[in-house]
Amino acid sequence: MALPRSVRIVEVGPRDGLQNEPGHIDTDTKVELIRRLVGAGLTWVEATAFVSPRWVPQMADHAQVMARLPVAPGVRHPVLTPNLQGLENAVAAGARDVAVFAAASETFSRKNINCSIDESLARFAPVLERARDLGIPVRGYVSCTLGCPYEGAVDPRAVARVARSLHQMGCGEISLGDTIGTGTPLQARHMVETVAEQVPMAQLAAHFHDTYGQALANLYAVMELGIATIDTAIAGLGGCPYARGAAGNVATEDVVYMLQGMGIETGIRLPALVDTAHWICHLLQRPVNAKVSRAMGPGHAVGAEGH
Ligand code: HMG
Ligand code: MG
Repeated sequence: MALPRSVRIVEVGPRDGLQNEPGHIDTDTKVELIRRLVGAGLTWVEATAFVSPRWVPQMADHAQVMARLPVAPGVRHPVLTPNLQGLENAVAAGARDVAVFAAASETFSRKNINCSIDESLARFAPVLERARDLGIPVRGYVSCTLGCPYEGAVDPRAVARVARSLHQMGCGEISLGDTIGTGTPLQARHMVETVAEQVPMAQLAAHFHDTYGQALANLYAVMELGIATIDTAIAGLGGCPYARGAAGNVATEDVVYMLQGMGIETGIRLPALVDTAHWICHLLQRPVNAKVSRAMGPGHAVGAEGH
């Protein structure tokens, strides 16, 4: 199959990228990060997570972040909602796109959301029902699609089963997470082919982490199958608190650079992304975990603020 002509990037940096940061990040910084990402041309920016603050303290200011989102027509800000309580809180805070998250591995499911896979699916049913009544689109994540930090190899049929359940319940898009970033291209291709027997390819997204440096290769492999929605995080930030050893998401800049080089449209301005990557990494006092931003260096935007 030919590569897609355009790709939709779902930026998950403000949520997936920041959720595991050890130091407290203030709301101003989160909102400014979102503003800069939108300014760079990203139209899907996952903003925060309506999860328990005891489980993920970094996302405790979810309502404050939502209240201060930049006004930008056509820009969508999905948020994570693990249960009905999360959905109600998210909606009250103004969310218009939400996401539920399941896993393809039992142990990861228990560590991440404190229940089995089947219990999580049962928990999501009322979330999807309520979201449908409110006219709110729901994305479904499946974690550990190419390996689990606790159980090792994951059967692609287990991924397909969870993806199909989420799709049947009403998730309009299923994002397939290589949560620990151990996958390789042929494995990624086989997993996506197996899932696509249950869920239409057009409703699948790739959410790959880059722990072993395989994410771009894995993305290319699944784009050849027709995947045209890719989750990324600015500066390669991220990691899941419940996935030991999981490094960052694939960097937005690296993906945009690759797509531009392939003539695939994204509508995103690379120099503004690179500046944003350097800005946030400077604030977080961590190295920029993206090859393109390292190569290009900071200071591209006209009137760019210094550090
Ligand atoms: P639990 O402890 O089993 O929940 O946690 P519970 O229903 O028994 O409630 C216990 C307490 O939590 C109660 O408070 C509830 O009110 C409160 P208490 O009465 O003790 O004071 N509570 C909540 N508070 C705020 N918001 C809520 C909420 N729900 C209950 N929504 C729960 C279950 C799911 C809540 C918990 O395990 C949780 O919040 N987990 C979140 C884990 C998480 O955010 N992980 C990272 C995101 S997933 C990820 O990164 C992977 C992904 O990127 C894809 C990939 O890379 O593969 C998506
Ligand atoms: Mg993730």
